[in-house]
Amino acid sequence: MAHLLVTGGAGFIGANFVRRALAAYPDGRLTVLDALTYAGNRANLAEVADRIRFVHGNVCDADLVDGLVRDADVVVHFAAESHVDYSLQDPRPFLSSNVEGTFVLLEAVRRHDRRLHHISTDEVFGSLPLDGAERFTEESRYDPSSPYSATKAAADMLVRAWVRAYGVRATLSYCTNNYGPYQNVEKFLPRQITNVLRGRRPRLYGTGENVREWTHVDDHNDAILRIIADGRVGETYLIGSDAQWSNRALLELTMSLLGRPVDEFDVVPDRPGHDLRYATDSTKIRRELGWRPRHTDLADGIADTIDWYRRNEWWWGPQKDATEARYADIGR
Ligand code: NAD
Ligand code: DAU
Repeated sequence: MAHLLVTGGAGFIGANFVRRALAAYPDGRLTVLDALTYAGNRANLAEVADRIRFVHGNVCDADLVDGLVRDADVVVHFAAESHVDYSLQDPRPFLSSNVEGTFVLLEAVRRHDRRLHHISTDEVFGSLPLDGAERFTEESRYDPSSPYSATKAAADMLVRAWVRAYGVRATLSYCTNNYGPYQNVEKFLPRQITNVLRGRRPRLYGTGENVREWTHVDDHNDAILRIIADGRVGETYLIGSDAQWSNRALLELTMSLLGRPVDEFDVVPDRPGHDLRYATDSTKIRRELGWRPRHTDLADGIADTIDWYRRNEWWWGPQKDATEARYADIGR
């Protein structure tokens, strides 16, 4: 395997990616660049600490990034502020990490002619109507609804422009909602699971009709490895499991897997600008690169995730009270 530089590799998806990439390429060289924001945690990489180089630094630091990109063959760019609710409360860090950070990385990749894979999100396409069969495709129009998705869309536009204007060798992927181990307790599933484990009631926004498509983090990362290996430069790929669930139905499933009454949760005020439905058509990556999700039973995947949170309170416990205090500030 080439020398990989993984930005944001101490976060949820990035750390799972690092483990997966090293398992797929046992002799590979891998460097992680991560600013260790509230969302980054070196403990996420403990099992592979002796197999990687870890650099604590910011993707906006042009000198640092230049040297790291020069030494790498392929850059996989996960680093971002990732939580929609926090972006609504305080957009500033999203502009800096998501937009400026991507710009700094692109300039280094351009200077050193390195291959880049940029991690985007299906959220850049905005909201689909609740009733209807329409899905996002690689041709869907950008229509972001939150500061988070607007900054991710801006970053994507920079990547696309650097491909066209400078011939940068980049690919982009847009995955749906991920779940699995090491996800920050701010996100929907870990928040509800850890609420129940702490004896608190889960919190459902608004009507709970909003639909999300749930992809296991290992399936997402396998898709990224497929794109790095065989993706076509300049191309974009949607990644999705087809497991589309309303938040209410998913919460009820989670409660039953936790052995609790399915309606034992509170309804709280809705998220402003809350996208109604996400659904992707991932035919392109399935057909061109032979990718398929392996975690096709969502109940099984959530049961495994619940089990992980039960066994790893040492990991999520220290974040839990601060996260709930932040939610209390925003009334959700
Ligand atoms: P996360 O918040 O768990 O992790 C983000 C990581 O990036 C953290 O380790 C953090 O310290 C690091 N980081 C943030 N700003 C940085 C900066 N300026 N310089 C260096 N490091 C910085 O996020 P995640 O859920 O793992 O998401 C990773 C990527 O995948 C993001 O780009 C996100 O937009 C995208 N994505 C996420 C999902 C999802 O469901 N979580 C779905 C599709 C795409
Ligand atoms: O679709 C991909 C995106 O998925 C990624 O780009 C983002 O980084 C990631 O955070 C995620 O965004 P969402 O806003 O969809 O995820 P979140 O976990 O915040 O919320 C999922 C749904 O659950 C959403 O409709 C809001 C709702 N929700 C969330 C929380 C935290 C609740 O009903 N209650 C909650 O407590």
